[in-house]
Amino acid sequence: MSAKVITIDGPAASGKTTVSRALGATLGWDWVSTGAFYRGLAFVADQERANLDDPKELVQLAKSDIWTIRLDEDLTRVFLHGRDVSEPVYSEEVGQIASKISHFPEVREALLEAQRRCGAERAGLVAEGRDCGTVVFPTAIAKIYLTARSEDRAKRRADEQGLDHSETIKQQQIRDEQDSTRKSAPLSIPEGAKVIDTSELSLDEVVAEVLSFSRNKLGLI
Ligand code: DC
Repeated sequence: MSAKVITIDGPAASGKTTVSRALGATLGWDWVSTGAFYRGLAFVADQERANLDDPKELVQLAKSDIWTIRLDEDLTRVFLHGRDVSEPVYSEEVGQIASKISHFPEVREALLEAQRRCGAERAGLVAEGRDCGTVVFPTAIAKIYLTARSEDRAKRRADEQGLDHSETIKQQQIRDEQDSTRKSAPLSIPEGAKVIDTSELSLDEVVAEVLSFSRNKLGLI
């Protein structure tokens, strides 16, 4: 595991990926979307016609080497049988399946070690997701929790992916509800986290806030 980790958690479309990517570039650190692990497994399970209600089958697939994750500067990429499948993996449809299968504690456990191994090569790691500050990297030097008004988040996602606004709000509400009420590692604000509402802020403003908070925590970055 990297010596230094900054975690960025928050609900769907709160800006975690954009902020993490910019922060990683600014610091010269790796960044990882831990959602890619859940999305990757969801996509693979769908392709392999696995039973999405059977955690045993999902755990077997989680450990299979037919799919891999690669941390690139622009995206946490997913490969299936050596082919880059990141485009469908990041669709809202696969996000819904990921949210559904992520409530199984066995599935979460099966994906945990690989998330912790991320970024061992570079000076530090920015890790974003739902439980990065609470479960994956509980000893992170700085923990951030991003949030934004529900309509703003849905609008952001709908514009990005060319989707219908009202349908996206509905889908997002289902996902938010599932992710924050599940028993195992629900979305929650980590203790000591800096909460930033991104509704009215530009990307540069958010990154500046995250950097200033992290610098205070670490004293040197
Ligand atoms: O961040 P995302 O939208 O790519 O995540 C997709 C789903 O994966 C999310 O709805 C719930 C699950 N997830 C999780 O349970 N824990 C994480 N750390 C990241 C994602």
